[in-house]
Amino acid sequence: MRVVMIGSGYVGLVSGACFADFGHHVTCVDKDADKIARLRKGVLPIFEPDLDRLVVANTREKRLDFSIDLAGPVADADAVFIAVGTPSRRGDGHADLSYVYAAAAEIATALTGLTVVITKSTVPVGTGDEVERIIRELRPEVDAPVVSNPEFLREGAAIQDFKHPDRIVVGTEDERARKVMAELYRPLYLNQPPILYTSRRTAELTKYAANAFLATKITFINEIAELCEKVGADVQQVARGIGLDNRIGSKFLHAGPGYGGSCFPKDTVALIKTGQDYEAPLRIVETVAAVNEARKRGMFRKIAAALGGNLRGKTIAVLGLTFKPNTDDMREAPSIPLITALTDMGATVRAYDPVGMEQARQVLTGIDFCDGPYACAENADALVIVTEWEQFRALDFDRLKAMMRQAVLVDLRNVYRPEELPGFAYHGIGRGREAGP
Ligand SMILES: NC(=O)c1ccc[n+]([C@@H]2O[C@H](COP(=O)([O-])OP(=O)(O)OC[C@H]3O[C@@H](n4cnc5c(N)ncnc54)[C@H](O)[C@@H]3O)[C@@H](O)[C@H]2O)c1
Repeated sequence: MRVVMIGSGYVGLVSGACFADFGHHVTCVDKDADKIARLRKGVLPIFEPDLDRLVVANTREKRLDFSIDLAGPVADADAVFIAVGTPSRRGDGHADLSYVYAAAAEIATALTGLTVVITKSTVPVGTGDEVERIIRELRPEVDAPVVSNPEFLREGAAIQDFKHPDRIVVGTEDERARKVMAELYRPLYLNQPPILYTSRRTAELTKYAANAFLATKITFINEIAELCEKVGADVQQVARGIGLDNRIGSKFLHAGPGYGGSCFPKDTVALIKTGQDYEAPLRIVETVAAVNEARKRGMFRKIAAALGGNLRGKTIAVLGLTFKPNTDDMREAPSIPLITALTDMGATVRAYDPVGMEQARQVLTGIDFCDGPYACAENADALVIVTEWEQFRALDFDRLKAMMRQAVLVDLRNVYRPEELPGFAYHGIGRGREAGP
């Protein structure tokens, strides 16, 4: 099949490269000319494990190419995916759909024969109707069923997720569109992932419901962690104790500094707005979003408490800046409000991230960026693990102790166990000492 992917960011590039790897012919389009020029040379604009290999191999096999112009590729395509960004709209938190609608209008002008237009971007209920209206208004004579096919991949494990999905959701009631979608995903049938055919609106809402539920799970365990600290319980054991119940499941039960990233924060807020607009308020999700925002910045209190209450004049070494390991994505990373709070309280911040330094420099100012974890820890009063990169899992604590002003570790991801680090004052998440009410 001939496929066009509009938008070559995390989702567009991964999906495009994987569809090409399945054997389809894919053109990835992006407005960013620099991005396309680099991709043509095999230079990736993002960090995602194994993606460079997939892009280079499929480009070489002539199944994958890149373009800033969509007209030619769309005219020949069987399927055109919209995978552009849907960030929070400034001011009210609704999803900003201007990129989606602009892409729909551009696609419309280039359509020729029967072409299925598929929204892969995360979009609020009803967006597919609007995309269909835009196309029909501009080109009433063309035949272009509009499908919702939300993407569930996780950054850092995106290729594995795309090729081995838990499920594929296809929102369309058009029989021809169904056939095209079935053909596109046919190479996955070997692993038999469930394909759910739903209405378009159901598919759109399913994506938001999934993200809101996962965000709720994380926030739930984070609040339990707070309680653990007060009552003298261990959140790791509580999480294991409830996670082994397969009605609950063990995933997304790791207490930490709050969720971040390019999806959960904006998607929970957008879903809340949809609920309000339709007079079906989602009070649980409203609370989740508010609790999480407060938590991210509030992590500074943990660090202050570990240092006797005052951060002024203290040097804090922060390890890990991206919102999670194995990505360079800094969008809504918990490190941002935390570091801002630390500097607001008068601390000096030194920071290191294995992959995200370039992105971090664009959003964090007034801090020292260091070359590695040990350079970062030099003369620090506390070492804080914010993102659990693999390379922070076996640090040399004797070496760290010798170079730090105070041997204090604040482990916001519970990477270590307190008993592993004699000589260090260890502060994790949700591991309370026995205490009365
Ligand atoms: N990142 C994730 O983990 C993830 C997972 C699932 C779903 N999603 C959703 O997928 C969508 C895309 O997210 P992303 O992280 O890939 O975004 P991104 O910002 O990394 O990429 C979007 C790309 O679209 C390009 N673009 C915008 N308008 C364009 C146009 N008219 N023509 C061509 N290119 C255009 C931009 O230049 C950019 O490169 C969002 O709706 C997001 O919510 C993201």
